[in-house]
Amino acid sequence: MASPSTHDSPDPLTKAVTEALHAVKLPDGTSVGELGLVRDVALLGSQASFTVDLAGLGAREDHAGKDARADQTSPRATIGAALRAAAMAVPGVTTAEARWSDDLAGRPAKPDDPLPDVKNVILVMSGKGGVGKSTTATNLALALRRAGYRVGLLDADIYGPSLPTMLGVSGRPVSLDGKSIEPLERFGVKLMSIGFLLEDARQAVIWRGPMLHGALQQFLNDVNWGALDFLVLDLPPGTGDVALTLSQKLAVTGAVIVTTPQNVATDDVFKSVSMCTKVNIPILGVVENMSFFIDSAGVRHELFGKGGGQAIADFAMAPLLGQIPIDASVREWGDKGTPVVQAAPSSSIAQSFVEVAERLVDVVSSRNVETAGPTIDRSGGAGGGKRRLPVAK
Ligand SMILES: Nc1ncnc2c1ncn2[C@@H]1O[C@H](COP(=O)(O)OP(=O)(O)OP(=O)(O)O)[C@@H](O)[C@H]1O
Ligand SMILES: [Mg+2]
Repeated sequence: MASPSTHDSPDPLTKAVTEALHAVKLPDGTSVGELGLVRDVALLGSQASFTVDLAGLGAREDHAGKDARADQTSPRATIGAALRAAAMAVPGVTTAEARWSDDLAGRPAKPDDPLPDVKNVILVMSGKGGVGKSTTATNLALALRRAGYRVGLLDADIYGPSLPTMLGVSGRPVSLDGKSIEPLERFGVKLMSIGFLLEDARQAVIWRGPMLHGALQQFLNDVNWGALDFLVLDLPPGTGDVALTLSQKLAVTGAVIVTTPQNVATDDVFKSVSMCTKVNIPILGVVENMSFFIDSAGVRHELFGKGGGQAIADFAMAPLLGQIPIDASVREWGDKGTPVVQAAPSSSIAQSFVEVAERLVDVVSSRNVETAGPTIDRSGGAGGGKRRLPVAK
């Protein structure tokens, strides 16, 4: 007497969303339904989610050749946007989220790499303070998690940790075996911050001594991160020591540079790009934060000038991953301990972060496939891997 499963007879909204997704056409005219790209369509109230199986695209390449596929360099960004738009065009749907089913290639790890089970290490950095590095790192980590990836977030800002506030976490990490430290977890993301270890004054005294300098190294060596697709590091402002230390300890996948549009910010940001180049950290892309403001009448204002993000991207020979508007909800949700991507996934500001995350995964995955070969490409994955940064020896 089994009752019919929802799988056999989906409710009308799930059915309508499934049909809308299947009808989306790729540039060569084939439909998502024909290729079997989408599965597990589900609705929670008005919120739609679905899984995109990129293996379907690979099969397409075998049969139709490369040119027939969707945008080669950024399948997640292009297909994700088209699928979300199709789902949200169905009456009754307010949010559409894509999860990605793919086996990402990992960075080429060093033999003594402290994080052998972490496929990608992403540094979120900028020469400039207060441009939104921590905001970008947390929302990016959440967007990657919600897209189905295994994610850790490490607060590498030892003197000014932000993650405890931004993620509303105040617990203390424990050690189960007396050797390694268990990371905390929030919204499915593994977390570590020196802020978790500074709760009482005595601890602060100990950690502000010589151990402080070793803290970052300990966070890499002694935290039980487990197997991750992405470990995102929120770096302190400045061109400094942290990125250099990291580049010596492990093969980072690369850096995401955060800037604001105006020149004052970009001058410092250029320096951080140069520093990355000197220490062989690939630039994966640039995020221009606080790019513009949309007022209540829907008019766009470029308060801090424009063009800074693109100028940095051009200098770094890396793609501009996105422009994030100024939106009061970013600060409000950050202060409340739930990043906007998690708190209001259907908002347009959350969507901007989701699109940045998808572009980043596209860059990372094509880079890792390229660097797995005999020649090492330092272009940041941009321009089909043909452009190169002048790497100083
Ligand atoms: N797009 C945005 N819209 C509105 N407020 C924002 C936006 N991005 C960041 N903010 C706010 O600006 C402030 C600075 O952001 P954040 O702490 O992320 O910068 P940061 O670069 O990490 O700073 P620091 O250099 O001190 O580490 C925070 O209060 C944050 O909530
Ligand atoms: Mg910060």
